[in-house]
Amino acid sequence: MEKFVIEGGKKLSGSVEISGAKNAILPIMAVTLLAKGKSALRNVPKLNDIKMMSHLLRIIGARVDYEDKSLAIDTSYCSFYEAPYEIVSKMRASINVLGPLLARFGKAKVSLPGGCAIGTRPVDLHLKAMEKFGAKINIKNGYIYAEAKELKGAKIYFEKVSVGATENAISVAVSAKGETEIFNAAVEPEITSMIDFLVKMGAQIEGKGTSHLKIKGVQELHSAEMEMIPDRIEAGTFLLAAAITKSEITVKNCVSEHLQSLIEKMEKAGSRFRIENKNIKIFPAERIKPVDIFTEPYPGFPTDLQAQFLALMTLADGESKITDEIFPDRFMHVAELLRLDANITMNKNVASVKGVKQLSGAEVMATDLRASAALVLAGLAAKGKTVISRIYHIDRGYEKIEEKLKQLGADIKRVQG
Ligand code: UD1
Repeated sequence: MEKFVIEGGKKLSGSVEISGAKNAILPIMAVTLLAKGKSALRNVPKLNDIKMMSHLLRIIGARVDYEDKSLAIDTSYCSFYEAPYEIVSKMRASINVLGPLLARFGKAKVSLPGGCAIGTRPVDLHLKAMEKFGAKINIKNGYIYAEAKELKGAKIYFEKVSVGATENAISVAVSAKGETEIFNAAVEPEITSMIDFLVKMGAQIEGKGTSHLKIKGVQELHSAEMEMIPDRIEAGTFLLAAAITKSEITVKNCVSEHLQSLIEKMEKAGSRFRIENKNIKIFPAERIKPVDIFTEPYPGFPTDLQAQFLALMTLADGESKITDEIFPDRFMHVAELLRLDANITMNKNVASVKGVKQLSGAEVMATDLRASAALVLAGLAAKGKTVISRIYHIDRGYEKIEEKLKQLGADIKRVQG
């Protein structure tokens, strides 16, 4: 098992290139199943989650090749409509093939995702949406069996905003018979990007970027090509790495509008920014001010940056409250940050963080993707050596994070053991 060894306290400098967005790429990979043919996705990072989705598509019968940051997906000969437990239990986003499989084959068998380090994460909204299109759903032996003779356009109102359920609903609506309206749809940039791809495939979708979508089902979709959007969570993580180490860096190739809620909170904490085209330069605060956050669907503060922001607050000059409304149990990083001498108390889904003068290095364990990123940030700022185990979590969603950090001047090594 690999670990990161970080000697904290080094300032960062220079610039870092942001990779393509994992959470935009995974659903787009899934919707390539809707049509026969060869699709091409450019600006795709080498990440374990993307390898896992490629593996799943191959099981379904697609040919997937990765070369030079591009994924070529040929879905001409797909015939298997199952997402097995062995894959879904490792990567929840596998649930994204449910809609596309149902639309293409009239049936789908997808393992229930089960538990996850950040909470229970049900799939009821996905299933209710499939039923609205006319699918029959059965749950048996840990699997979702979905079947429909004909999928018909529907009116779908989501009682809660869900990224994945919105994506599954859109992917059925684009080829269902008639018109679909989706109310209270998620509006994350990753959804907008999936809509752009579907429109390239021939889909008819109105209302992009809003929570009310109108979709006319078409008889046939075709393959498409597209450049993937930059990863806003990776960009945010590097901005927070600069803030916590009080360093001036430039984060290159990102979309600043996707990061507005973070930038606003970081400005309140004292950081200043210069935004030029696709680059964001951060001028950090010498004294980090305490700022409260609560997570919300986009354009609110993303739950995927909650752990990293909390890490920054451990060194603030005062007390802040970090509330996760989306995943109330997503606080596994807190116990690990305490090992670095942070001062945090939990009350349900609210962390009260009292800033300390200094964190000190320790051995800690990564528990999930974004929690691992928070530990890396804390390790960069801590005095002395921090050793982070189970870093396979971070490889799911950050491309070569230690190389990018090393290039910025951090003292971080990947070691075996
Ligand atoms: C996606 C992201 C994940 C991010 C999350 C919230 C991907 C691959 N993953 O996950 O990184 O943290 O959005 O921004 O894009 N819910 C239900 N029933 C459902 C589905 C969801 O109650 O059927 C709840 C969830 O428990 C959660 C909330 O809805 O409280 C939002 O979850 P959702 O937006 O669906 O997250 P994911 O799509 O799984």
